[in-house]
Amino acid sequence: MQTLHSIQELRAAVSQHRAAGKRIALVPTMGNLHRGHLTLVEVALQQADIVITSIFVNPLQFGANEDLDSYPRTLEEDCRQLQEAGCHLVFAPSVTEVYPEGQTEQTRVEVPGLSDLHCGASRPGHFRGVTTVVCKLFNMVQPDLAVFGLKDYQQIAVIRKMVRDLCIPIEIVGVPTVRAESGLALSSRNGYLSEEELRIAPLLQQTLQQTAAAIESGDTDFGRLEESAQAALEAAGFRRDYYRILNRESLQPAQPGDEIVILAAAHLGRARLIDNLEV
Ligand code: PAJ
Repeated sequence: MQTLHSIQELRAAVSQHRAAGKRIALVPTMGNLHRGHLTLVEVALQQADIVITSIFVNPLQFGANEDLDSYPRTLEEDCRQLQEAGCHLVFAPSVTEVYPEGQTEQTRVEVPGLSDLHCGASRPGHFRGVTTVVCKLFNMVQPDLAVFGLKDYQQIAVIRKMVRDLCIPIEIVGVPTVRAESGLALSSRNGYLSEEELRIAPLLQQTLQQTAAAIESGDTDFGRLEESAQAALEAAGFRRDYYRILNRESLQPAQPGDEIVILAAAHLGRARLIDNLEV
């Protein structure tokens, strides 16, 4: 497995694979890899000849009071796991390699509407940072396909729209959320949780399942279901962010009969956890 840090070296390696007729997959990550990320790599290996994983903690997608400085950076251990998983190339650029003229001088890629809802409302500018860096990574690697987790449900929706709107010729593949035995969605931010919080955290997914069961049994009072779920989470020690029953396509409030997804975000201790469930 090769580990490269510059765009120039990356392009040279990619063009060799391309000249050899290889199908190339990109798995964008911010590192501190867990089984969720490694599952994306496995899916990529099933669908391409060459798998490139990028590891870049993207400052542009963090808000001023968020965890950019403390975000876990574990490149050596990440590379060990990626090698074992069969990844062919790791691209781990520095911040100046990605933003040579600084972040404020950087052209932004913005998906309007969708980026302002839910996680985008709680984290202003977050999705603009994500779409900008993902567009740049797409241009650096020019893969045939790129693999993302459905754990970040709104993120993949925003990226799919960017790809459609900008006619980017890359297939977007979504992978179901990988969970701990407790049901807790794996996340690099779970490392912020204390033992006590780790016991509480699975309640987020359990609450989603209870809401889904109520919807499946015919309850259409979505506002009341959202409120009682929020209250249950608060009673268990979460601090509220949002909990919404939505139309899967538009991510707008669901109407009875819609294809539904429930998106939830809540704070627990130092961590902001997100999860979702399709009904
Ligand atoms: P990061 O949080 O490192 O996640 C990288 C990819 O792994 C994303 O596509 C995410 O949805 C997926 N992922 C994370 N936890 C998962 C789980 N438990 N099961 C399945 N997939 C999971 O998302 C980002 O980084 C960044 O925003 C990025 C897209 C790299 C742009 O900077």
